Amino acid sequence: MASVVVIGTQWGDEGKGKIVDLLAEHADVVVRFQGGNNAGHTMVIRGEKFINHLVPSGILQNKVCVLGNGMVVDPAVLLQEMDFLAGRGIDTGPDRIKISEIAQLIMPYHQKIDLARENKKGAQQIGTTGRGIGPAYEDKVARRGIRFVELLEPETFDRMVHEILEEKNFYLQNYFKVQPIDAESVVRQYREYADRLAPHVANVSVVIEAAVRKKRHLLFEGSQGTHLDIDHGTYPYVTSSNTLAANACCGAGLGPKNLTDVIGIVKAYTTRVGKGPFPTELADEIGNRLQEKGAEFGATTGRRRRCGWLDAVILRNAVRLNGVTSLAITKLDVLDGLEELKICTGYEHRGQILDAFPASLKVLAECRPVYETLPGWSETTSATKRLSRLPKNVKRYLKRIEELAGTPVEIISVGPDRDQTIVIKNPFVRAKPARKATPNTPRARKR
Ligand code: GDP
Ligand code: IMO
Ligand code: MG
Repeated sequence: MASVVVIGTQWGDEGKGKIVDLLAEHADVVVRFQGGNNAGHTMVIRGEKFINHLVPSGILQNKVCVLGNGMVVDPAVLLQEMDFLAGRGIDTGPDRIKISEIAQLIMPYHQKIDLARENKKGAQQIGTTGRGIGPAYEDKVARRGIRFVELLEPETFDRMVHEILEEKNFYLQNYFKVQPIDAESVVRQYREYADRLAPHVANVSVVIEAAVRKKRHLLFEGSQGTHLDIDHGTYPYVTSSNTLAANACCGAGLGPKNLTDVIGIVKAYTTRVGKGPFPTELADEIGNRLQEKGAEFGATTGRRRRCGWLDAVILRNAVRLNGVTSLAITKLDVLDGLEELKICTGYEHRGQILDAFPASLKVLAECRPVYETLPGWSETTSATKRLSRLPKNVKRYLKRIEELAGTPVEIISVGPDRDQTIVIKNPFVRAKPARKATPNTPRARKR
């Protein structure tokens, strides 16, 4: 059995959805363990595109998909997503999608506060996705959040909503000068969500433990990226959860000794959506070219993503922080046709090369990226099926990434489609599954 965690090494949108969908063929259970619908994970299967915000990207492979306790879940968005998937013939029943009974709910006041706060901050804003993520995690830590277990107890839920709204409405009306929220209509609306979602709510730690005992393959799907982590990211320009691989355990209810592999997803260049430092950002023709060729628009908010060269300083940071065991390089095809490529190998600060990613944003702003230049390639890579067929300079670029990261590249993505991938090593196949994997069959339903 293998338990594989997939995380983003940069600032999100590295292509986690695509790689999780691909690997899920061999997995039995696919788990999201943090974040909420700030995530937008894209999967393309024979040209058909799906963007999931809450449902794990194993759903198209018909696997058991778990929303872990570390998530903040907007039930309205979840139901919309489930309806959309069901409308495309995908099984979204209670055997397929399971929600942790102790996952936190995103409530209408969370989103309202998120938007009002960003609005008030003006130029100082973080550039959040406006989905209520930060305020929902704040309430969790302040011990005034509402979990699915309370949603399913009508009297408890009703009491909590009334109590909490007393404080939230005071804040909304007096500080932000916006309209208050009506408690009764929230209770009514969430009653409907509760009725529909109740069959999916479970103790997912027990579900995962049962899978571990049967030696099933587990796949953990990270959201956002290492440098958006609440502790280790470019604070305060971060999201409000731990995005690192270690959180797969806390956010799902599983002990750390069970994890076997950590795959770090690396976009072949760097992007960032929202505000915050980005040392290798390119405000020039090459930056525009990457943005256009890479179709770099946020999968959740549609915002233009900022683009720049690959940054090996943040890559090494991600390898250390997550205990990355192998890399998956995505969007390599976007670099096709560039005459030369640059990789940032260090940050120079006041004449010194820093040996670690600086915590101070002031220092970071003063850093100058030190670049190494490599030759580009004129060939088109998007139809390549084998490593040996990749152009010589592509192999050279990949080898240099491996050297700088001190980690092997085991998956290479050359286009958005599931098929446009070169898998050098698959952790599930390497671990010899308990029985032969049968992709695209509703095997788990029979259990
Ligand atoms: P995630 O949040 O990490 O799952 O990534 P997103 O889905 O937000 O953004 C990645 C984007 O790149 C999506 O539009 C994918 O369809 C696309 N994509 C993924 N891998 C590749 C690739 O190898 N080449 C190209 N051209 N596009 C890719
Ligand atoms: P996936 O999983 C890229 C960014 C936002 C903002 C900051 C805080 O698709 O990679 P939040 O709404 O979380 O409070 O916003 O984090 N952000 C993401 N950027 N990909 C994501 O998810 C992101 N989720 C949040 O743009 O800068
Ligand atoms: Mg995304």
